[in-house]
Amino acid sequence: MPADAALASVEPTPGVAKPDPILVVDDVSRSFGGLRAVDVTHLEVQRGTITSVIGPNGAGKTTLFNLLTGFDDADSGRWTLDGTALHRRRPHNIARAGMVRTFQLTKALSKMTVIDNLMLGATDQVGEGMISALLPFRWGSQETEVRERADRLLERFRLAHMRDEYAGTLSGGQRKLLEMARALMVEPKVILLDEPMAGVNPALVQSLLGHVTDLRDEGVTVIFIEHDMDVVMGISDWVVCLAQGAVISEGLPQAVGSDPKVIDAYLGGHHGDGGDL
Ligand SMILES: Nc1ncnc2c1ncn2[C@@H]1O[C@H](COP(=O)(O)OP(=O)(O)OP(=O)(O)O)[C@@H](O)[C@H]1O
Ligand SMILES: [Mg+2]
Repeated sequence: MPADAALASVEPTPGVAKPDPILVVDDVSRSFGGLRAVDVTHLEVQRGTITSVIGPNGAGKTTLFNLLTGFDDADSGRWTLDGTALHRRRPHNIARAGMVRTFQLTKALSKMTVIDNLMLGATDQVGEGMISALLPFRWGSQETEVRERADRLLERFRLAHMRDEYAGTLSGGQRKLLEMARALMVEPKVILLDEPMAGVNPALVQSLLGHVTDLRDEGVTVIFIEHDMDVVMGISDWVVCLAQGAVISEGLPQAVGSDPKVIDAYLGGHHGDGGDL
């Protein structure tokens, strides 16, 4: 059954169970000083869907991604990917288990070539500080296979012509593509995309959206933070709205878009841009 058909009969209630959840989150919280940035009681993500996470600025969307992928430590909570517990694990460990993310501000390493950025994605999700420990690359027998996978992804994302250029020479949109490609090096089951369209030239937006739906159609579960409601309505199988760290609404796109609680959350927030919700 297609993912959207499986969700058609799911109640639009925060925390509702899904027919075939790949990610299950329980009681995850994170505070910064007195501010409760994330406070998610229960959330299930249906396998094989594009599930969008929306909510006003500061709602806790990025923090939730940081927690789920091990880039920040939750104060409490548990989550599982296909039944495997992932809390208290490091990012590379979570990536190896099948869940990867991209960043709201891209983290392409500008003084490395495009192909080396991708090959780095096969090792781990690393920060800039770890590069010296990884260079020169010592791939051994896996090198050819990793390089071939990287080249296939460069073709797919139309970056092959930039293969040996420094990542710093890429446009903003191309960096987003590179980051997505890098995340795919580990052949994940779940990919979390934090505003992949932000700052991208409109000409590239359609192509990025095409890549996102292609991933879903290949069976990858996509969790997608996006502010542009036209994009959210057009691409999502399911929408989750966060406000002040908590899930206040979830459901099919139209239901969440017209939920008064969601509209109130945006009006109460400080998102002054009339074009977006
Ligand atoms: N490292 C941090 N230290 C202190 N406060 C933080 C930190 N990270 C996030 N916050 C705060 O936590 C709240 C949630 O932030 P978060 O970045 O998760 O929101 P968001 O929903 O991703 O917002 P946006 O749509 O603007 O990206 C905000 O009030 C933010 O200021
Ligand atoms: Mg954010």
